[in-house]
Amino acid sequence: MKITEPSNLEQSQTDSKPSTRPISVSETSQLKIRENNIEILEKKYNKILTIDIDDIKLMNWIKHEDFYEVTFNYKQKFQDKFLFDLHSGRLGHQALMTKVGQDNFNYNYQKLETIKKIQNGEIIKCRKRDNNEIFAAKIQKINHFLIERELQINLHIAQNPHENVASMVEYYQENDLIIFIYPYFSGGTLNQLVNSNSKDLSKIKVKTIMKKILSGLNHIHGLGIIHRDIKMDNIMLEEINDHKSVRIIDFGFSAFKDNLNYLCEKCGTIGYFAPEIINGQFYNQKCDIYSLAQVFHMILTGNPMFDRNLNRQQIIRLSKNNLFAIDYRNVKESKAQSLLFKMLDFQENRYDVIQCLDHPFFYKSENLESKIKSVETCKFKSPF
Ligand SMILES: Nc1ncnc2c1ncn2[C@@H]1O[C@H](COP(=O)(O)OP(=O)(O)OP(=O)(O)O)[C@@H](O)[C@H]1O
Ligand SMILES: [Mg+2]
Repeated sequence: MKITEPSNLEQSQTDSKPSTRPISVSETSQLKIRENNIEILEKKYNKILTIDIDDIKLMNWIKHEDFYEVTFNYKQKFQDKFLFDLHSGRLGHQALMTKVGQDNFNYNYQKLETIKKIQNGEIIKCRKRDNNEIFAAKIQKINHFLIERELQINLHIAQNPHENVASMVEYYQENDLIIFIYPYFSGGTLNQLVNSNSKDLSKIKVKTIMKKILSGLNHIHGLGIIHRDIKMDNIMLEEINDHKSVRIIDFGFSAFKDNLNYLCEKCGTIGYFAPEIINGQFYNQKCDIYSLAQVFHMILTGNPMFDRNLNRQQIIRLSKNNLFAIDYRNVKESKAQSLLFKMLDFQENRYDVIQCLDHPFFYKSENLESKIKSVETCKFKSPF
């Protein structure tokens, strides 16, 4: 088996082509996935092996023509190799890929391009070699304690997916790198959407986008997670110009809300974080609502709430005292203003996700959408 060289992620994998040696049925094993363990029926020895999923440190699945070759590296520092029939192999891989890391990224994916350089690595667009599907891979050096937390949160979301939250498909761990694989979202970020609409997103689009983000946030919060970095670049559209296909991405700053140790950590992005964060106070999930208010303002008006000419220190000073300037010329609707205020209030009075979703700002959107739908339906009705 080839061990991938992590320092060269673009390396092609031609030198580890699957063997074509025919494997007899009696040589393959079958596999059953249970909640916390897997049962392997080794036909060759006619015995059943039970493996605790938590004991597997890393795994490596290689699909051959008519079987899978699988290696499990255990935390106890030994390894096992199995040959699974195609059916067992496919099921086993699917069940374990969001639970255990793999170590053969280059074998499975080909890099197409860099999407963005990030602090600890890069986001790349890549192609899965076996089915040509396109994915995004977030490749980061494991040199920060937040990475382990990002992994735990990604795993939790992958086990509990939601249509408005990005779900990791699988992950790889190779020496000092961790690689999260996500579906590729071709619709770009909200920033790109606002720029491409020359700052003029229709009211209905804004309502739909806000509803979808709130729905995703409701799910995340329900899982006991605080995102802590809601911003224009961390909200994407799955498909271009499909404002319903919203996905919340980037759990790099996310935290489990019950761990009190994190909840006075200062993190997030300047211009988005809530006063309680900047003031070093204990905070809760409502900090995401404050950040979302900045996104709301941006998609309503095309402009950030803090003037672009302000420097970091000035923005921090204003944020500390919860001072902000709403662009009233572009937020004329009183319901939008009222919702914005509720989202920007100090923590104890600030709306949570459910209160936001219940706000009258969203009622009108539904009526309007249904009116539009009924007008559209009328168009097709025969006047005779
Ligand atoms: N699944 C995806 N599909 C397409 N593009 C993506 C995907 N995930 C991330 N990106 C792009 O990469 C950018 C950075 O991703 P992400 O926010 O996860 O990394 P980050 O470390 O937080 O980077 P930054 O410091 O820029 O916020 C996103 O803003 C988006 O443009
Ligand atoms: Mg980000």
